[in-house]
Amino acid sequence: MSSGLRIGRLALPGRVLLAPMAGISDAPFRRLCRVQGAALAATEMASSDRSLWGSRKSRLRLRLDDEPWPRVVQLAGSEPAQLARAAQLAVELGADIIDINMGCPAKKVCRRAAGSALLREPRLVQRILQAVVAAVDVPVTLKMRTGWSPAERNGPQIARIAEDCGVQALAVHGRTRACAFRGHAEYATIHAIKSAVRIPVIANGDINSPAKAIDALEQTGADAVMIGRAARGQPWLFAQVQGVLETGRAPPLPSPAAVRDMIRVHLDAIYRWYGAASGVRVARKHLAWYSEQLALPAEIRQRAVRTETAGEQMQLVESCFARRSNGEDSATAAILPRYWQSGADDNQQKNQYAQETFQNVGEPDQRPQAAVAGLHRRGDQALLPGSERPQAR
Ligand SMILES: Cc1cc2nc3c(=O)[nH]c(=O)nc-3n(C[C@H](O)[C@H](O)[C@H](O)COP(=O)(O)O)c2cc1C
Repeated sequence: MSSGLRIGRLALPGRVLLAPMAGISDAPFRRLCRVQGAALAATEMASSDRSLWGSRKSRLRLRLDDEPWPRVVQLAGSEPAQLARAAQLAVELGADIIDINMGCPAKKVCRRAAGSALLREPRLVQRILQAVVAAVDVPVTLKMRTGWSPAERNGPQIARIAEDCGVQALAVHGRTRACAFRGHAEYATIHAIKSAVRIPVIANGDINSPAKAIDALEQTGADAVMIGRAARGQPWLFAQVQGVLETGRAPPLPSPAAVRDMIRVHLDAIYRWYGAASGVRVARKHLAWYSEQLALPAEIRQRAVRTETAGEQMQLVESCFARRSNGEDSATAAILPRYWQSGADDNQQKNQYAQETFQNVGEPDQRPQAAVAGLHRRGDQALLPGSERPQAR
């Protein structure tokens, strides 16, 4: 099994991708997930209507200055010429890949016949993809669903159109537009799509563990997996899944001290990205997701969503991982080990757990920062002979 995914002339270091999620996969979260092993992370969708690009929300979504290579901008729209022009501007802003959104079922997008609503209009899909591919010289990818409704699973037809238009990879969420997020993702149609095209297919939908990723890859024959909701509050999942795909074994879970530092780094990046006031509001939901994933008491989650300042949020994180001065674990810290124990499936992990649990409190763990420094190097190595080198910006 090869460990990386290739999109056109770009070779990625892995085959576990972060799914674009509006309101979640912002620049700080993308960067964190990339550091934790995600091979690629597209921006939250931006409208192709450039009259909206002046808003603070769009400006933040399209800011790529600190983005690890390769940078993927996702665009949503329904006008071929407008999408083509937006794609050109996104490339000028630094995009290395343009991703077109035909997967979003949100009403706001669908009322304008964009997102997954386009799946019902194959001719329009063709015009859009032809226009965008012709407009830019970076790879164009497509994010789609399996079809419009369970009765109209025309994913294979759309996939063939995309390939004929020059699209370089497809990410397929295993639900139809009508299914929204209900029921389970089904992988049979993704398999049919994979069988219909030669370009790489990325399977998406309900992947929340290494075992589920293997299951999705086996059922679909896809080249890679994309993880969305399960990454919230446990960005280290990317390394776990990639490790199992690459070597058959998951790397050890990060120690409690490493997780604490990862959360600190994440919060700090959020405050810097949005400014303190908005940042605190954005950070609340991430704190709630970390609490959920670490199985902390409901009370911690409730406190997280009521925090008003950055200081309060950092203090909450600190208190979850701290030991009492008399050496006993705090109530929260005593609960934390359950998470690691439930993930420890062999002696090596248990030893690591025993050595690291709470021994490191107070000693900053450099792993997140060291990994940030390594990202661009990984990008360089990932380039194939003859492909464009990332430009210094
Ligand atoms: C809150 C939220 C926002 C999303 N925003 C986008 C988006 O901007 N663009 C897109 O293509 N898909 C979007 N999606 C869909 C995800 O990319 C993904 O296809 C879906 O969540 C299924 O994957 P999962 O089961 O791993 O979460 C969004 C999903 C969620 C939950």
